[in-house]
Amino acid sequence: MKRVITFGTFDLFHIGHLNILERAKQFGDYLIVGVSTDALNFSKKQKNPIHSQEERTRIINALKVVDEVFYEESLELKGDYIKKYNADVLVMGDDWKDKFDEFKSLCEVIYLERTPSISTTEIIEIIKR
Ligand code: CTP
Repeated sequence: MKRVITFGTFDLFHIGHLNILERAKQFGDYLIVGVSTDALNFSKKQKNPIHSQEERTRIINALKVVDEVFYEESLELKGDYIKKYNADVLVMGDDWKDKFDEFKSLCEVIYLERTPSISTTEIIEIIKR
């Protein structure tokens, strides 16, 4: 059985999120998703996600393509998570292209094209206007 791992905030769940999770699943049989904690988001962007980590995690966990969810507490722990969850493949959106090549010694690393014209940031901007 091939295990795939991916990471993200997945706030204001949108079609780009669903697309990447469905495509990630196609690289294996079992999809594990690290959902970044509120604290991690705050430390990187100085703001909290709209939906709490509990809410974001429940939404991701309810998806048919997702088999397991955990909290990503720190960006520096990616290698540890890959080992802990025995991942064979790491899938990331190509906004992270080349950034995770160091993990090629642990597993296969695949960058997928982002879905054009949608992001959580953009949804927030559109609603504000
Ligand atoms: N993603 C994607 N296509 C999009 C938006 C996101 O493939 N249009 C992917 C990202 O590459 C990442 C995952 O979805 O692998 C989670 O991304 P996240 O950062 O949570 O979503 P964004 O919409 O990019 O959020 P933000 O605008 O806050 O950066």
